[in-house]
Amino acid sequence: MVTLTCPVRDCWRPLEAGPQTFRCEVGHSHDRARRGYVNLLQPQDKRSVDPGDRRLAVEARRRTAERGLTGELIRALGNVIQPYFSKRGALLDVGCGDGFILDALTKTNSFEGWGVDLSREGIELAARSYPNLDWVIANGDRRLPFADASFRVLLSITGPKNAPEYRRLLETDGLLIVAVSAPDDQAELRELVLGAAHASDRSRRMQEVFGELFEWRETLEARQTVNLDRAALRDLLDGAYRGVRHGAKERFDAVETMVVTLSHSLVIFTPRPGTPKRRVRLGE
Ligand SMILES: C[S@@+](CC[C@H](N)C(=O)[O-])C[C@H]1O[C@@H](n2cnc3c(N)ncnc32)[C@H](O)[C@@H]1O
Ligand SMILES: [Zn+2]
Repeated sequence: MVTLTCPVRDCWRPLEAGPQTFRCEVGHSHDRARRGYVNLLQPQDKRSVDPGDRRLAVEARRRTAERGLTGELIRALGNVIQPYFSKRGALLDVGCGDGFILDALTKTNSFEGWGVDLSREGIELAARSYPNLDWVIANGDRRLPFADASFRVLLSITGPKNAPEYRRLLETDGLLIVAVSAPDDQAELRELVLGAAHASDRSRRMQEVFGELFEWRETLEARQTVNLDRAALRDLLDGAYRGVRHGAKERFDAVETMVVTLSHSLVIFTPRPGTPKRRVRLGE
């Protein structure tokens, strides 16, 4: 069982779930939205009035997923997490967006699925589409509203990279998967609209970011090459907040279809044994 905790002024007492509200023992109360999710974002956690991904990006990414373009990524994630759910447990997806990937993973595994995102538009679409899973609006760069060691597996799929929090939230024999875009991800499209396909290898950097608290296990690649029409290409651009540069618009408009590589590195970690649990206050 996953326990939500109360984010009001560093209260962090467990929240009791009622039909309409979540309440801690000192009486802080958080409404359950009509769609079933809970917004636990505190004023100081927001960078803007309406933080996280906007509707355009959220919906473009959903259409991309519905075209099967996250299929290889989902298959690779499923293979890695499957052995971890021979017994009961929960999985947290931080930066879950519209929830498509979390939902797809729960279809082949028997875990309790939780998704967190900063974007209200993302969580609303997730909760509307997949009401059987649990959805929370919160900032993954800050303390997250869950009790210690709540999760067996934690995913960050091109999402926030908050090593101390992920360590706190994982069981000691849990698993962390950090998926980042591989250097050749959408290289053809980037070359068309940006005039350059260069990208750094982020997977090595992840070993530095997480190495102190996690032991690196392996890095896997999930790659598919697809022929896409203009609508699909447009959605890829919108999903990555990548506008078409001035001067590149004509090149983009001239393209009917294009072969594009979609490619992620899955960097896989386990918690270092005996790491002292630290209460972290990020961003303060
Ligand atoms: C590139 S999208 C990836 C979405 C999803 N994981 C996927 O692969 O389809 C990054 C997501 O992280 C969310 N995000 C960005 N910063 C965040 C933060 N500090 N806390 C929680 N979510 C965040 C965005 O709103 C967006 O949904
Ligand atoms: Zn409280």
